Amino acid sequence: MFQINENYQKLPGSYLFSAIAKKVAAYSEKNPDKPLIRLGIGDVTQPIAPAIIEAMHKAVDEMGQAETFHGYAPDLGYAFLRKAIVENDYKARGCEISEDEIFVSDGAKSDSANIQELFSADSKIAVCDPVYPVYVDSNVMAGRTGTYNPDTERWSNVIYMPCTAENHFVPEFPEETPDLIYLCLPNNPTGTTLTKAQLKEWVDYANRVGAVIIYDGAYEAYISQEDVAHSIYECDGAKTCAIELKSFSKNAGFTGVRLGYTVVLLVMSGIREVLGAGTFNGAEVFPAEYAAGMMALPVGGFLTLGVLIALMQWAQTKVKGGK
Ligand SMILES: Cc1ncc(COP(=O)(O)O)c(C=O)c1O
Repeated sequence: MFQINENYQKLPGSYLFSAIAKKVAAYSEKNPDKPLIRLGIGDVTQPIAPAIIEAMHKAVDEMGQAETFHGYAPDLGYAFLRKAIVENDYKARGCEISEDEIFVSDGAKSDSANIQELFSADSKIAVCDPVYPVYVDSNVMAGRTGTYNPDTERWSNVIYMPCTAENHFVPEFPEETPDLIYLCLPNNPTGTTLTKAQLKEWVDYANRVGAVIIYDGAYEAYISQEDVAHSIYECDGAKTCAIELKSFSKNAGFTGVRLGYTVVLLVMSGIREVLGAGTFNGAEVFPAEYAAGMMALPVGGFLTLGVLIALMQWAQTKVKGGK
């Protein structure tokens, strides 16, 4: 007999944005003459740029011809896109990210909801308060949170980092040590951001306590200050503690198209080298005939991430004196 995932049933009401949409629709119906300033889901206001439309038309035509038709895309996304991301979003900013560390997806919303599946069920999450609801709701559904208190609008077993006018909307290191830290910068909904020096402090903190930062850079295109990093990988040490999520929704008006990507730890490449080639830094670790051939393929990236997480958790257990 099937059973419903009881964690779903813990979610109060509905997803925040659909609740707002329903309220707005009801209000507009009753008050058709009243203008509305919408402060709900952030959508784009401009049409997609002509160069993109032209490319999309060409892509549709390709799908209509037997010679150029193609089915599923490669697991990590098309190589031309990953190459362009590496060149323009990373190399141009001095970040050494390789193409096989980019995972193209249908947007940062899906990635920010799905990424938690890579971590153990007892991982403790830390989020800013207020927060983009997807981070919390996905962890609720995965069973990492306790119960919801409608009065405080907070979940038990979640570390909240208040962002208020008093602290200039800048989160402070929590007293309790988290396993996963969600940071969204520039921030939705507060609009604040951190300087590169402030962000580096978070990177150092995460490395110190053995946490992973899930860094949502969906609003990166809005950065105009020189001292604000466009990627967390601009901070030394981020390669050992950060996963970065990016979106084309805001910078290319792609909310309806659905395109984004995730960048996973650079340190992966070292582990991948060991798993795939049997070498580390060029030196042989185990005979190449045992090396998993699939590590040379894109799917190896995901497997490597799994191995990396397992290693980190093992190391943390040792540090905490567990078995
Ligand atoms: C913080 C944050 N992350 C991610 C997203 C969604 O990005 P995408 O459209 O790529 O799914 C949004 C959209 O509003 C957002 O505010």
